[in-house]
Amino acid sequence: KRQPKATIVIFGATGDLAKRKLFPSIYNLYKKGKLSENFAVVGLARRPWTDEILRENVEQSIKQASFSSADEDLREFTSHFYYNSFDVTDDSTYDGLNKLMIDLEDKYQTEGNRLFYLAMAPNFFGLIAKKLKEYGLKESSGWTRLIIEKPFGTNLSSAKELNNEIREAFDEDQIYRIDHYLGKEMVQNIEVIRFANGIFEHLWNNQYISNIQITASETLGVEERARYYDESGAVRDMLQNHILQMVALLLMEPPIKLTTDEIRSEKIKVLRALRKIDSEKIDKYFVRGQYDSGEMNGEALPSYREEDEQLANSTTETYVAGKLVIDNYRWAGVPIYVRTGKRMAKKTIDITIQFKDLPMNLYYKSEKERHPNLLSIKIQPDEGITLSINANKAGAGSLAEPVQLSLNNNDVPGINTPEAYEKLLYDCTIGDATNFTHWDEVALSWEFVDPILETWAEQQPNFPNYKSGSMGPKEADELLERDGNHWWDV
Ligand code: BG6
Repeated sequence: KRQPKATIVIFGATGDLAKRKLFPSIYNLYKKGKLSENFAVVGLARRPWTDEILRENVEQSIKQASFSSADEDLREFTSHFYYNSFDVTDDSTYDGLNKLMIDLEDKYQTEGNRLFYLAMAPNFFGLIAKKLKEYGLKESSGWTRLIIEKPFGTNLSSAKELNNEIREAFDEDQIYRIDHYLGKEMVQNIEVIRFANGIFEHLWNNQYISNIQITASETLGVEERARYYDESGAVRDMLQNHILQMVALLLMEPPIKLTTDEIRSEKIKVLRALRKIDSEKIDKYFVRGQYDSGEMNGEALPSYREEDEQLANSTTETYVAGKLVIDNYRWAGVPIYVRTGKRMAKKTIDITIQFKDLPMNLYYKSEKERHPNLLSIKIQPDEGITLSINANKAGAGSLAEPVQLSLNNNDVPGINTPEAYEKLLYDCTIGDATNFTHWDEVALSWEFVDPILETWAEQQPNFPNYKSGSMGPKEADELLERDGNHWWDV
């Protein structure tokens, strides 16, 4: 087991992400011995906190995170945390940070390894990267790496601008663009399920697969994030990053080696083969939605526009469904249907592969009773795979009915899958960028979604158009019906 030594600097240490994900993840890594005793964490934000206040917050956040042991003495752990009140635009604070880091490196013997984590408003990402370089914070005796949270730009041109700014200060191999879906156990499993099983991979192409469906539905609404979300919408928030990353993993060719470069290069090829849809055809391929009021578990829910004053006239989509087309030899003719949205009937991330029917099948009385083979990769909340096959229906002569072979990770004793953030933080400390997005992936993803957003910006949507607690607008069903398909219930 490698036990990296490092000083971790968190920009945005008073924020939600630090509290909900980063502090508990660092703690878990430490507990599991995946971070050595030689570590320090510097929290930065505008608020005038002290080391003591940060440490109390870290302690609380660990106790609240259900996956960590709650009541032990955390003081030894939190004593490694330091706070600096920080104004990203004020030069003197970078000097102060550098001095603090040099002291901490001496005190904790971290060998000069520095991990900068940008977990705050994206408008300062470029500036911070530049200042880190300018003030010598990258000049340590160990490695320096930068983790950047999304959103990485709001379209291709702003993403390019941001990337150029960051690249002036950091090399591509020092930049870790985080997409937390790539840290999910079952997302990482896609590759293994495919490339370690002949029974799947031999059939993994347009000869045997009818269509692929990805659903990432959420029950939550916009929560307290109206300002961010209304500028973003479902396409930027979920499709451009998380969903396209899953698409790339599902459709890529087997890499020639399990190295970062080889895997990324196969993913990039998929994104290059993703057909860009012309503006006049966008409506044939994509459906947008915004949630109306509704009900869930007997609780009345407000519409998106009622959630916050500033949303009263919003035309931001809280739902998107699409039909993706891949123009390459393996996938020509296989539609990839994706959908994601807020305030849907359930929280689920699921991938379903529908296999083609046999040319002749005698075990059914009617078409309606005929069930295709389905492979479902369950990412959340269940983690596992289900394979739907046909078998003899008991007592019914030679008729078939579907039965399911299921593996549910949650039922396997001893498997306690680590949080996505925990894995990704660890990967970064050992220098493994495989599960982070390369710039080319980011750029190609924006190239794909930009025309959708541009076209929609010109047309007035008919919002709201789906009820809270439903599976989205009816147009999303029609999208598949036109091809003779339907969404599988997930
Ligand atoms: C984030 C989005 O990236 O992913 C959120 O900004 C969304 O809007 C979240 O809720 C979903 O993540 P998960 O892991 O809960 O599926």
